[in-house]
Amino acid sequence: MRISRKMEHVHYALELGQSGQQGLADVKLVHNCLPETSTDQIALTTVIGDLILSSPIFINAMTGGAEETERINRDLAIAARERGLAMAVGSQMSALRNSEVAPSYQVVRRMNPHGIVLANLGSEASVEQALRAVDMIEANALQIHLNVMQELIMPEGDRNFAGMIDRIAAIVDRVGVPVIVKEVGFGIPRENAKQLQEIGVRVLDVGGSGGTNFAAIENARRSAALAWLNDWGTPTSIALLEALSVYPRGAVIASGGITNALEAAKALTLGASAVGMAGAFLKVLRAEGIDALLRFIDELQQGLILIMTALGANTVQQLWERPVVITGETAEWCRTRGMD
Ligand code: FNR
Repeated sequence: MRISRKMEHVHYALELGQSGQQGLADVKLVHNCLPETSTDQIALTTVIGDLILSSPIFINAMTGGAEETERINRDLAIAARERGLAMAVGSQMSALRNSEVAPSYQVVRRMNPHGIVLANLGSEASVEQALRAVDMIEANALQIHLNVMQELIMPEGDRNFAGMIDRIAAIVDRVGVPVIVKEVGFGIPRENAKQLQEIGVRVLDVGGSGGTNFAAIENARRSAALAWLNDWGTPTSIALLEALSVYPRGAVIASGGITNALEAAKALTLGASAVGMAGAFLKVLRAEGIDALLRFIDELQQGLILIMTALGANTVQQLWERPVVITGETAEWCRTRGMD
């Protein structure tokens, strides 16, 4: 059941695609016609909590747990290694329950022995499971995903969400690597950001809506009975500003519906330190193969360098100082929530 679910997620993520309604159309970068820099002065290096990344773009959590997913993870890991991107694996719970599928995750470390690799579990995990997940792939950090709405839409999903905060707090205290708490496409509002900050979570990945849509995916898997929930969640632009109203710059990752260099640059200029992409990488890999994926990553990084040059920002930190104008639903949301 679990193993076929993993491939169903891949299948429906590709079939349904990404809506593109991640709110970044509301964010306008202000042109700089005197940038006083050159492309060779741009550095893409960034810092997230205690992690130093050579690129602000990384491959967000997707898969593992079945034969076909091992091929996907292998190809993603090769791309991560070749282009110096950090990469997360999908939830490792299936491998903790059944060690036979562990190689479908371990392939990511095997292909990329010196890269930054992130482990991944849900908030149902115990400290002992978190330690095993990190150990399984010699991870540099652990992502804990929050996916309440996905679970509720899944007929076989969890129904009891009590104790999440205490379990995350215990993992943060004892796992021994940085912990990143992430959403899977519904966003992390500031009330939850405060709760997570209070228990010592240093880095959030806001995982907003507008990209891969796990409400729609779970509905597609079960004849759309709860299709009225397909628009649940906050778009990435909003989720990012919510998280940044609590967390400092340097501690927030933008993800959810980011598909090109301009969207990535907008998220970084708003204050993100890094940008996670999942569905867009999967689409290129599955449709066109690993060489196309490498070209796509090159386009993203060269596109970012071009935009940073145009804005006169040599680093991600300097992007944060560039002016932005926020319009539309994102601006209205910020006003309503007293965040302007
Ligand atoms: C995911 N995502 C995900 N996240 C997570 O924390 N653990 C997981 O196991 C998975 N599994 C998974 C499978 C597939 C096929 C996809 C496409 C995605 C969610 C992912 O990391 C990300 O948060 C969302 O997909 C939103 O980003 P994009 O896809 O819009 O860039």
